[in-house]
Amino acid sequence: MIHDTKSETLPGDSAIGVMRALQTGARGLRFVEAFIREPLVVGSLWPSSSSLSRAVVDSCDFKPGATVVELGPGTGAFTELLLKRMAGRGRLLALEISDTNVGVLRRRFRPCEIIHDSAEHLARYVKRHGAACIISGLAWGTMAPALQDRIFDAMLASLAPDGQFVAFGYIHAKWFPTSRRFRRRLLEHFSHVEATPIVWRNLPPAFVYRCWRA
Ligand SMILES: C[S@@+](CC[C@H](N)C(=O)[O-])C[C@H]1O[C@@H](n2cnc3c(N)ncnc32)[C@H](O)[C@@H]1O
Repeated sequence: MIHDTKSETLPGDSAIGVMRALQTGARGLRFVEAFIREPLVVGSLWPSSSSLSRAVVDSCDFKPGATVVELGPGTGAFTELLLKRMAGRGRLLALEISDTNVGVLRRRFRPCEIIHDSAEHLARYVKRHGAACIISGLAWGTMAPALQDRIFDAMLASLAPDGQFVAFGYIHAKWFPTSRRFRRRLLEHFSHVEATPIVWRNLPPAFVYRCWRA
C-alpha cells in the first residue's frame, strides 16, 4: 500500500496552526488598539491581508544586498514577507509612528531596524539617494496635504536615481482629492508608474502602485 506522507497531518501541526492563528489574532487586536488611539494616523482598522501583502512585496524590484525602506509597517504584514525575500542580505529599515505598533514590530522582527519616528524624517536614517526600494504602507488618501508633501519629499531624497517606489491605495479613496494629489506627484516624479489590478481579498480592497525613476 502506498502511504502518502505529504497529506498526513501530524499532531504537532494542528497545535502550531492554532498558535499561529492566536498570534495573528493578537496582532490584529493590537492594530485595532493603535487605530482606536489614533484613527487618522493609522488610517485603517485592520492590517493588510496576505493577498495585498503578497501583491506589494511581489511588486518590489531590488537586488540582494540592497537597502530597502518600509514606511508605516503597522504590525508587519509586509515586513515579514520582505525579510523572507531578503533572506539576511541587505538592510531593511522600517519607520513607524504608532507606539503600539512599534511595540509589536520590535517583538516580532529582530533583524529589521525598527525606527520609532515619522516617515518625514527618513533622511536622518538613510544616506541621500541610498535606498534601492522604498515601500509605503501609509494611507496617503487620508493624509493632510502638507504632511503628504513632507513625506513624499523625504522619500524622493532617499531613493536611488534608479530606485523604485511601491505604495498601495484603497479603492474607496481613489478619487479623494488627497489621493489624486498623490497620483499627480507620482506622475511628476517617476518616469514609469503602473497600477496593479484590484486586490479584492483585502478589507477594504486595494491596488498597488509600482513606480520607477529611470
Ligand atoms: C494603513 S496602516 C498600514 C499598516 C501596514 N503597512 C499594513 O498594510 O498592514 C498605516 C500605518 O502607517 C503608520 N503611519 C502613519 N503616519 C505615519 C508617519 N508619518 N510615519 C510613519 N508611520 C506612519 C500608522 O501608524 C500605521 O501603522
